[in-house]
Amino acid sequence: MKKIGLFYSFNSAKTAKIAEKIKSAFSGYDIQNINVEIADENSFKSFDYLIFGAATWFDGELPNYWDEYLPAVEDVDLSGKKLAIFGLGDQLNYPENFCDAIGILADFFEAKGAEIVGKFPLEGYDFEGSKAVRNNEFIGLPLDQENQARMTNTRIEKWVESLKLEFI
Ligand SMILES: Cc1cc2nc3c(=O)[nH]c(=O)nc-3n(C[C@H](O)[C@H](O)[C@H](O)COP(=O)(O)O)c2cc1C
Repeated sequence: MKKIGLFYSFNSAKTAKIAEKIKSAFSGYDIQNINVEIADENSFKSFDYLIFGAATWFDGELPNYWDEYLPAVEDVDLSGKKLAIFGLGDQLNYPENFCDAIGILADFFEAKGAEIVGKFPLEGYDFEGSKAVRNNEFIGLPLDQENQARMTNTRIEKWVESLKLEFI
């Protein structure tokens, strides 16, 4: 069975909770949680497919642990690997930088050869700007636990169903 690696910080409470929901939605799949805080450049190798999760912090930036991880994987080659990204953000308080981390990670890992999958429609969100938007859709799955927590389960379900068509 193909292996999925789910990378996020185990110490980031809301992100970790969402990651567990995503893992549950993939029930029956071989999916393993990896703490990005202790991952290295070899951590990707045993996986066929990757899912990365990151909240956006500091007005449109990555959380520290992702920021510190990227230099360690500067030389990684992800050619041919499919990568899906989910993010947490707050569209009411950070409308100009909503879930920017998704876009930052997508740009970085696309430059390493990864194929970004798991796009998501803009409908239902209300914000002004986001690095996660490309060609009028999100490049990954944005979730807003502050303002739209009730929509999270449905969004995850829809996103994971679309990923199952990619992760075959
Ligand atoms: C200081 C601070 C800065 C933030 N900056 C942003 C931001 O620029 N864009 C955004 O969408 N959300 C932003 N947020 C919201 C967080 O991404 C959101 O609360 C998220 O759920 C936190 O998840 P975590 O607890 O797993 O880190 C910010 C939150 C804080 C406290």
